[in-house]
Amino acid sequence: MRKKIVAGNWKMNTTPVEGVELAKEVVAGGRNVDKPVDFIVAPPFTHLSEVMKVTRGTGVAVSAQNCAAEAKGAYTGEVSAAMIASLGVEYVILGHSERREYYGETSQTLNKKMEQAYANNLVPIYCIGEKLEEREAGKHFEVVKAQIEEVVFNLDAEKFAKLIIAYEPVWAIGTGKTATSDQAQEIHAYIRTVLKDKFGDAADSTPILYGGSCNPSNAAELFSKEDVDGGLIGGASLKAGDFIAIGRSF
Ligand code: 13P
Repeated sequence: MRKKIVAGNWKMNTTPVEGVELAKEVVAGGRNVDKPVDFIVAPPFTHLSEVMKVTRGTGVAVSAQNCAAEAKGAYTGEVSAAMIASLGVEYVILGHSERREYYGETSQTLNKKMEQAYANNLVPIYCIGEKLEEREAGKHFEVVKAQIEEVVFNLDAEKFAKLIIAYEPVWAIGTGKTATSDQAQEIHAYIRTVLKDKFGDAADSTPILYGGSCNPSNAAELFSKEDVDGGLIGGASLKAGDFIAIGRSF
């Protein structure tokens, strides 16, 4: 059985005070969920320390939204994987389409970030997904394949065993336009095939999360699909009630 995961990517939202409040509500709500689902929250860097204090030992895990490609040194404004891990944070989102698009993150950068994450025992949540014009041109399979080959294929078996993948079609992020559950299943199954060709049966254990306008109304349908192992939630993760409701949708 693969792990079921619901992760909340808060992006650049909430003040630290609001973030701690939201984390507390997620912890409280999560206690009443009798489903085998792991909850992860990913607040901005400035909140990590305080959010760790209210989530530690509760079953709600914490993720960063990014980390530096370098270990340490003269990189003004960057936050290293070691700094993040030292707080007790367990995960890091890497390769989100917003980072690829607005901050020019390439596979080359992401390979270095993955290396930093693993060197500091952070589990990467590696994001992939095609843009609208790529989907319309029927290129979505080759886009996600390249995003996997250029980064994930550089991992050894031990590292691969810890990886989480998030498929987030760019056209579905923040648009209210969710992929249909059949579209999600089709590409999740394809992603698993690509992973299997390289890593064999280990890919049967890789959680593949769906992201893009996932909410309490559509989560159950998406999660009913064989290869959809949970969600990476943006907007709906900012309301604890909605986020927890998504977690109940398995
Ligand atoms: P939305 O749920 O707001 O569409 O965002 C998805 C996302 O980008 C999560 O990383």
